[in-house]
Amino acid sequence: MSLQDAVQKLAKDAVKRVKGAKVVGLGSGSTVAHIVREMAKLPDKESIEFIPTSLQIKLEAEKSALRLADGSRIPDIDIVFDGADQIDSKFNMIKGGGGALLREKILISSAKKVVIVAEASKFVQSFNRSVPIEIHPIARTAVYKKLTELGGGPALRTLDKGYPFVTENGNIILDTIFPSMPDPKKKEIELKNIAGVLEVGLFTRRADLYYRAKSDGTFDTITF
Ligand code: A5P
Repeated sequence: MSLQDAVQKLAKDAVKRVKGAKVVGLGSGSTVAHIVREMAKLPDKESIEFIPTSLQIKLEAEKSALRLADGSRIPDIDIVFDGADQIDSKFNMIKGGGGALLREKILISSAKKVVIVAEASKFVQSFNRSVPIEIHPIARTAVYKKLTELGGGPALRTLDKGYPFVTENGNIILDTIFPSMPDPKKKEIELKNIAGVLEVGLFTRRADLYYRAKSDGTFDTITF
């Protein structure tokens, strides 16, 4: 039994939560892709509208023949499924490893219910990885300076050959290390207040349900 088995099983369980939903938000990443493939098997999937947060998950949804809706339906989202890059002991999250943080934040802040699916190794006492920060390209050096003044260590996200990573919104990402972060909510507000910052990969709205996939092939859930 492996982590993959656990993800497979939790995806089957997670889709049961769609019951009664009319509009479903789809986060991004490999774990959500498993859930999308399970959604394809729902007998009433024709009655549900799906809103993707990235081209990656949109392609998965298309392959599964899910009915897609545009952004105007975001306020009507009943439930959103998403992954995470790290989850601390208070269930704050770092997201944006795949660069979809802006759209993910919009969906998560609008949805009536949020379900997060992640492997157990991503649940930590306190954050120990960089925070993706999406910025407008024109503000690159200005935001870099401000982040450094705030004690951060920003690094421009690049692709394999050194080209800057450009988000689906035409922006760039500064992956920023903070030596400590006693109050993620305060940090999220502080970072968002920098001109040129479009979104911060700190997600401090606690989800309603967390799925934790374990390497022994099982999963457990944490409900609020
Ligand atoms: C996308 O930008 C991220 O927020 C993803 O949700 C996160 O990286 C989780 O992805 P995996 O499920 O592939 O680990």
